[in-house]
Amino acid sequence: MKKTKFQKPTGMHDIIFGDQKYFQSIISTVEGVSDYYGFSKIDTPILEDEDLFLKGVGEATDISEKEMYTLKTKGGDRLALRPEGTASVVRSYIESGMANRPQPVKLYYIGPFFRHERPQAGRYRQFYQFGLEVLGDSNPVIDAQIINIVYSILTDLKLKNISIEVNSIGDKECRNAYKKTLVKYLKSKSSLLCSDCKRRTKENPLRFFDCKDPKCQAVKAEAPKIIDNLCEDCHSHFKQTLEYLDGLELPYQINPCLVRGLDYYTKTVFEFFVTTKEGKSLALGGGGRYDYLVKLLGGKETPAVGAAFGIERIMQAMKDMNLIDGPKSKDKVFLAQIGILAKSKSLVLIESLRRAKIPVVESLGKDALKIQMTKASRIGSKFIIIIGHKEATENSAIIKNMETGRQETVALDKVVSKIKKG
Ligand code: HAM
Repeated sequence: MKKTKFQKPTGMHDIIFGDQKYFQSIISTVEGVSDYYGFSKIDTPILEDEDLFLKGVGEATDISEKEMYTLKTKGGDRLALRPEGTASVVRSYIESGMANRPQPVKLYYIGPFFRHERPQAGRYRQFYQFGLEVLGDSNPVIDAQIINIVYSILTDLKLKNISIEVNSIGDKECRNAYKKTLVKYLKSKSSLLCSDCKRRTKENPLRFFDCKDPKCQAVKAEAPKIIDNLCEDCHSHFKQTLEYLDGLELPYQINPCLVRGLDYYTKTVFEFFVTTKEGKSLALGGGGRYDYLVKLLGGKETPAVGAAFGIERIMQAMKDMNLIDGPKSKDKVFLAQIGILAKSKSLVLIESLRRAKIPVVESLGKDALKIQMTKASRIGSKFIIIIGHKEATENSAIIKNMETGRQETVALDKVVSKIKKG
């Protein structure tokens, strides 16, 4: 294809035409379900203080090390395009004094996020996420409820073959002790590790479990797992969460290697996958508990749990499964007109059709009836409304039923009721 003068930035994309149908149906489902469960919508700025993310997400994470879009303002502030939503929500929770409201505070968001990643299938530099966060409740029932709410969103969108992986990565106490055990093990296997994992051993050993390098897989399989090293509190929190998930009959499995790529998690972590038609596993979203983040970012100690999903990934899965019905072309009425007066009457009639929720297609800018009728037959509308010169002066319209071939002239103010009758 010939290069145009301007192109979209690498890794970014337009959401146009058919894709908007998927996009909008995801947004309205998220809004409907979140509202039902008592979540309020939160919109935060696209730009935040860079340190919010460095501190929140963790300095030794992929996001902080290489994926942030940062800029220096004319005033000298260092800002970052938000790579994720949780740190912003927590910043707002602290800054607007949400701790003084009845707890827990339940919030959801939908919007664009930015990560300077290597573009590949399902991985963009600007992508959309929706997320839900519950702040101010430590009960494991909330962990299970969040998992269930996002599962409901996916099943309301009619997605099938969803699987959920869960794990617990413990709290400060048990994780620090476990890290020492893990580092000792990794050091003993150092010669078998990839160069990234050698570095991770020093900087952020848990991240070793994210490594996809074939070299490290055998070491991973044999590695001591956090789930076998939980303290009593974390163990019982995890056990309770799983029991609630069992009660909900959700399709989950425990993955002892699941650690997630952000540093703020404690206890429960989870990820959702869907199997594509090529049989591949696509990560749709994930989340977990983050009981230390509010304090870390300057607030009071506040337990919290949440999840976020990639909207493009969900769109991809929906397309894969052919999931959008929308109004069928056949259900759309075609409105043809000839002449200035007929165009004027058509504008008014379209308003009545819209209010009656009858989808209509027209070619108001065209004059030739033949062109308009060709378009109507391409769409395959059951009804064609025609307002010619004569009908326009007589305040009437011809309604043609393309299935039976019958046509009749009716008063303009009776068109809607006539079409509704079918
Ligand atoms: P995350 O796993 O980094 O979690 O992102 C959640 C989802 O966003 C991913 O599973 C994926 O579907 C989508 N996503 C991430 N990066 C990209 C990308 N470059 N292109 C397309 N989609 C992408 C978080 O962001 C956490 N804030 C989730 C959370 C909320 N934890 C607690 N509360």
